[in-house]
Amino acid sequence: MRIRNYTNSDLDVCRLLWTEMVQRHQDIYDDPSIGGDDPGLEFDQHLDTVGSNNVWVIEIENAVVGLTALILKDQEAEIEPVIVSYKHRGKGIGRRLVEYAIGEAKRLNMFLVSVKPVARNKEAISFSMIVDLKP
Ligand SMILES: CC(C)(COP(=O)(O)OP(=O)(O)OC[C@H]1O[C@@H](n2cnc3c(N)ncnc32)[C@H](O)[C@@H]1OP(=O)(O)O)[C@@H](O)C(=O)NCCC(=O)NCCS
Repeated sequence: MRIRNYTNSDLDVCRLLWTEMVQRHQDIYDDPSIGGDDPGLEFDQHLDTVGSNNVWVIEIENAVVGLTALILKDQEAEIEPVIVSYKHRGKGIGRRLVEYAIGEAKRLNMFLVSVKPVARNKEAISFSMIVDLKP
């Protein structure tokens, strides 16, 4: 398993991962209209917003199976999103991505890092946290 920075060649797989997250939100809210016709394209918007330096993917045997990103604002970082592909869930990969993103927030001299999954998202709720990184 290895975590590395996003590169352009990861675009398609990241759109698919994003679609898996939107499907989860559609289920949670029982609303198939969430995300529109092509939910994967929301990944492109997120990439534009956060910048590719702040997106990381996790690979198993050279295949990308998850992603995370940091939204940086006023020395506060929010980990958003954390996505692990269906068949790789429940093996600690999501936790690993969160820990990695916390490490990156520290490296970037942020004062605070948070993860705020929606309350109904039972697979993600144990990630909820706000960590004070001030020295
Ligand atoms: C949320 C998500 C990233 C978790 O990834 P994962 O690799 O399965 O998570 P992990 O195996 O690292 O487990 C993380 C924690 O969640 C708990 N968990 C995982 N699946 C769970 C489930 N079905 N029910 C309850 N708790 C669960 C684990 O016990 C673990 O807790 P711990 O570390 O305190 O022991 C994954 O389900 C996903 O991609 N969901 C769709 C995208 C999404 O909704 N992301 C959340 C946005 S923040």
